[in-house]
Amino acid sequence: MSALRILFVCLGNICRSPLVEGVARRRCAEAGLAVEVASCGTGHWHVGEGADPRMLSAAAAAGFDLSAHRARQLRAADLDEYDFVFGMDGDNLRGIGRFVTPRSRAETGRFLTWSGAAPPEDFPDPYYGDADGFTRCVALAERGVAGLLERLRRR
Ligand code: 4NP
Repeated sequence: MSALRILFVCLGNICRSPLVEGVARRRCAEAGLAVEVASCGTGHWHVGEGADPRMLSAAAAAGFDLSAHRARQLRAADLDEYDFVFGMDGDNLRGIGRFVTPRSRAETGRFLTWSGAAPPEDFPDPYYGDADGFTRCVALAERGVAGLLERLRRR
C-alpha cells in the first residue's frame, strides 16, 4: 500500500504547521502508519527560512527537532499531490480553497476539527504572542495529532 500523503498548512510555515508536521512524523512512525507528512504556508513572506526560533526552542524542549525545516508556499499542485490538506485556521482554509477544483485529489479540512481535537476549532497563531504561546502550541499539536491518528486508524 502506498503511503498516505498529508500536508499541513498555516500562514507563514514557520510556526504551527512545521510543528504539527514534526509531531505527526514522529507519532505516525511510532504507530507504524505509512504516512508521509509535509507543511507549507499560504503566504510568501518566509519562504526559504527555517522555523521561528521561538518555535524551534519550544519544540526542542519537547524533543522535536525542527531544525531541518525550510518554509515553502502552498501551490496549486499540492491539491493533487496530497491526500489530505489541513489548514490550521479559517484563514488558511480560505487560502487552500483558492486552489481547490472539482477534480482535486485532496480532501481538505481544519486540522483540529477533522482530528476531533477541537475546541478550539482554529489552531491559535502564536507569532505575535509570548513564549508560553509556543509551548501551548506543542501540547495542542500533540492533541491534534493523537486525534488524527485515531481517525486514520479507523479508516
Ligand atoms: P505560522 O505563524 O502561520 O504559524 O507560521 C506566522 C508566521 C509569520 C507571520 C504570521 C504568522 N507573519 O505575519 O509574518
